[in-house]
Amino acid sequence: MPDVFKWGIIGTGMIANKFSKAVINTPGAELGAVASRNVEKAEEFAKKYSIPKTYGSYEQIAKDPELDAIYIAVPNPFHYENIMLCLENKKPVLCEKPFTLNAKQAKDAIDYARKNNVFLMEALWTRFLPIYKTVGEWIKNGEIGEIRVLKTDFGFYVPWPKEDRHVNPALGGGGLLDVGVYNIAFAQWVFKQEPQRITSMAHIGETGVDEQASIIFAYDKGQLAVMTCSLLADMPNDAWIYGSKGMIYLKDYWRGTTAVLKRKGQLSDETIYCPFENGFEYEIMEVMNCIGEGKTESPLRTLDETLATIEAMDQIRAQWGLVFPMER
Ligand SMILES: NC(=O)c1ccc[n+]([C@@H]2O[C@H](COP(=O)([O-])OP(=O)(O)OC[C@H]3O[C@@H](n4cnc5c(N)ncnc54)[C@H](OP(=O)(O)O)[C@@H]3O)[C@@H](O)[C@H]2O)c1
Repeated sequence: MPDVFKWGIIGTGMIANKFSKAVINTPGAELGAVASRNVEKAEEFAKKYSIPKTYGSYEQIAKDPELDAIYIAVPNPFHYENIMLCLENKKPVLCEKPFTLNAKQAKDAIDYARKNNVFLMEALWTRFLPIYKTVGEWIKNGEIGEIRVLKTDFGFYVPWPKEDRHVNPALGGGGLLDVGVYNIAFAQWVFKQEPQRITSMAHIGETGVDEQASIIFAYDKGQLAVMTCSLLADMPNDAWIYGSKGMIYLKDYWRGTTAVLKRKGQLSDETIYCPFENGFEYEIMEVMNCIGEGKTESPLRTLDETLATIEAMDQIRAQWGLVFPMER
């Protein structure tokens, strides 16, 4: 790994701001350049975070020889084209969730990265948070026995105008791709396998995207993952994992800092608390460590898992008949 790992950023929106603050606070990481479709916007963004180079197009940043990796933070339909742009220029990529709009795009990008040995990872930041290490050990060590049921929800309400990316089909809107993706990835992490059956029900809003939905995954031994996502309701966003010998509660699981282990028959629970500042620094360190070790994907969020998440979301959208305009 270079002494200083230089990040490039594509996009200057809400999450690019959060990412930039995290890079500044990550040892060994530096912001090297930012690109916007509009160079003045890039300059304004660069000023806030003292970024030395700006570009008025995404093509230009992908060709910058000084950057060690590029973070893609644009609306969902533009993930694929920008992943490909970076990979074709041999640039390692960290791309925001949902990785792509659909599984065809995900498979193409993953195949290309693997064939050309370029690092690629979905920015599923939750997965890299410190609390997941301990909760993962609880599960692995059989603290709650065999896992039988998982319950998660993820919902928040903001009266978005219909042009906003959250509800705009032209920008890949809808609760499933925005927040439901966390529920699905969490179920994958807990059960370590893909579901045998998926059933779901959605409310499609006025703009034509899912405003809320419930999804159930059923696994080989009858295990169930029961998940709800919503853009209409403020939810606790907690996760419960129920097993044959106890349960695990993960508060605010997508940005988890607190988890409780309740062992069957024991009066006192075990509670852990793993606070963090920003949260993105863990995925940033994961990318830097993987690249430093010569890996082309992360073992903590593999590309096979990323693809399986998108495949499940394709299947769920097919159940609702939800096709984005650019997929027609
Ligand atoms: N990990 C997380 O916690 C998290 C949280 C929120 C969002 N996200 C993901 O991050 C991505 C961006 O979300 P955001 O909330 O940052 O969105 P945003 O605030 O709307 O910003 C998106 C940026 O994308 C660029 N862009 C390129 N083509 C665009 C187009 N046709 N229309 C609008 N913007 C376009 C724009 O940058 P320029 O104009 O400068 O080119 C814009 O600033 C989404 O995929 C979302 O799912 C992740």
